[in-house]
Amino acid sequence: MRYLGGKYRLRKQIAEVIKEHRGLPLSGKVKPYWEPFTGSAWVTTQVDKEPIYASDINKYLITMWKALQNEWEPPKNITEDKYNAIREGRKQVSDELMAFVGFGCSWGGKWFGGYARGEDRNWAREAHDSLLNKVDKLQDVNFFQADFLQVEPPENNMVIYCDPPYKGTTGYKGTGDWNADKFWNRVEYLSNKSHKLLVSEYKAPDKFDLVWQQETKTDLNTKDGKEKRIEKIFTI
Ligand SMILES: C[S@@+](CC[C@H](N)C(=O)[O-])C[C@H]1O[C@@H](n2cnc3c(N)ncnc32)[C@H](O)[C@@H]1O
Repeated sequence: MRYLGGKYRLRKQIAEVIKEHRGLPLSGKVKPYWEPFTGSAWVTTQVDKEPIYASDINKYLITMWKALQNEWEPPKNITEDKYNAIREGRKQVSDELMAFVGFGCSWGGKWFGGYARGEDRNWAREAHDSLLNKVDKLQDVNFFQADFLQVEPPENNMVIYCDPPYKGTTGYKGTGDWNADKFWNRVEYLSNKSHKLLVSEYKAPDKFDLVWQQETKTDLNTKDGKEKRIEKIFTI
C-alpha cells in the first residue's frame, strides 16, 4: 500500500539498526520494542522477537491493522465515485475501510489526497495484495492508537523507533502542523527514563548523535531524475 513517508525502501536497513539496540547477548533476551509512528508498518514487518508494540495517532489505520490480523479482507476495487462519496462523508463505512480508501486508494498514499488513477493500474487491487502479504508478518504485533506526545511507553526499558512526520510536512490524518520541538523534548524525556530512542529525521537538535545514514532516492522528480536525500537515524 502506498503511504506518505512510508519506509518501504529502507525497511531492512532500519530494522538492522533496531536489532543492534535490542540485543542483550549475555542473557539471550531482547528488549521490548515499540514503534509509535507505525503508519503503513513497513519497518514493523521487519522486526522479530516479541514483545512488539506498534501505535499511531490515526485511529482508522490502527483499526485496519487489527481487522487485518482478524482476517478482514479489503476490497479489490474502489470506483472514483465511491472514493469521493466516502471522502465527502456521503457514504458511511467502517473505520478499516476508511483507512484502506484514505491511504491505499489515494494519490501518493496521502490521506484522501485524491483518487489514485492512471498507469493502467488498479491501485485498490495493489493495496489489497500488499496488505494481505504484509499482515502475515504482523500477527504478533500489539497495535494500539495513541498520540506519542501524550502516552507513556507500554513497558520499561524499551527500544523505541520513531518515524514521525518530517519537520514541515502535512498530509496525515488529524496531525495538523507537526510540532518538532515538542517531539524532540518528548524523545529526551523518555530517554531519561531509561528507554532507548532511535529517530528517523533529516536533522536533529545538537545534543543528539547520528547512528546511521544512507543516501536514498525520494519520489520527487527533478530535472536530473529522482531527488536524492540522506536518510538518518539519531539517538541520545
Ligand atoms: C512518516 S509516517 C510513518 C511511516 C512508517 N514508518 C511507514 O513505513 O509506513 C508518520 C506517521 O506518524 C503518524 N503521526 C503523526 N502525528 C502523530 C502523533 N502525535 N503520535 C503518533 N503518531 C503520529 C501519522 O499518522 C503517520 O502514520
